Amino acid sequence: MATATTTDSSAFSDIRLGVIGGTGLYQLEGLEKVGEVQPQTPWGKPAAPIMIFRTPNGHRIAFLARHGLHHDYTPSEVPYAANIAALKSIGVQLIVAFSAVGSLQEEIKPGDFVLPSQIIDRTKGKRLDTFFGKGIVAHASFGEPFHKPLRELIYAHRDRVSSISVHTEKLAIAMEGLAFSTRAESNLYRSWGGDVINMTCIPESKLAREAEIAYQLVCMATDYDAWRESEEPVTVAEVMETMKTNAINAKHLLGSMLPALESKLYEAEDPQDVEFTSDLHGSMAR
Ligand code: ADE
Repeated sequence: MATATTTDSSAFSDIRLGVIGGTGLYQLEGLEKVGEVQPQTPWGKPAAPIMIFRTPNGHRIAFLARHGLHHDYTPSEVPYAANIAALKSIGVQLIVAFSAVGSLQEEIKPGDFVLPSQIIDRTKGKRLDTFFGKGIVAHASFGEPFHKPLRELIYAHRDRVSSISVHTEKLAIAMEGLAFSTRAESNLYRSWGGDVINMTCIPESKLAREAEIAYQLVCMATDYDAWRESEEPVTVAEVMETMKTNAINAKHLLGSMLPALESKLYEAEDPQDVEFTSDLHGSMAR
């Protein structure tokens, strides 16, 4: 059973956009909160109640703290399937997912934002990464793990937040954690062309694809991982310090692109815009 609380009878109607917040991003201050719900899904409950906010244009958007409101779940423990299934169950068609990452390249500085287009999966197979199995066989296309039109829309709004540099079309390495990488691993990922490294984009992006939800990861660099000889390898304290500024910038970026996103999602008149949510490269074969 879902437990829902609301101050607005239409709080749960026509929610199309979902935002997932990562380490350091647990709320969307500045928007009016009109309700919250924590649906029970066949994969359990999401990590936290999904908060519903009313946007200045009068639409509703959903926000979910990936790791729980008090960072209750490690990257290996996050209930990814429940998180995605819960967002799907309230109607979400498109997810903007924020995540703290380490930088594997000199030009990506702590505080910069990165929009990856590709992933190399270095998680260790411990995480539930599919809704299928147990008699239901399906294969989702995952050659393009992120949603290009959404990525382009976010990138087009980069100048609205003048304090950040945004890099696009980058390669993300997904690792298991909890410990950060060794220097040797960090250098290996650089030799593969890796640009950033995080601990959650697999299986989150895969499950979003299976759920046919358009998904784009917005990476917020917090550190230079372990490869830079001139620096001590990354520490949690370093990540948390940079995250404070990153969280403020994430909210500014989201606020600046919200009207454009809403017009794509709610007011598509150009038939090409229909592609915005339907072009998921996600056809299933049985
Ligand atoms: N998240 C933030 N910094 C990270 C790093 N260096 N490696 C993996 N995940 C991270």
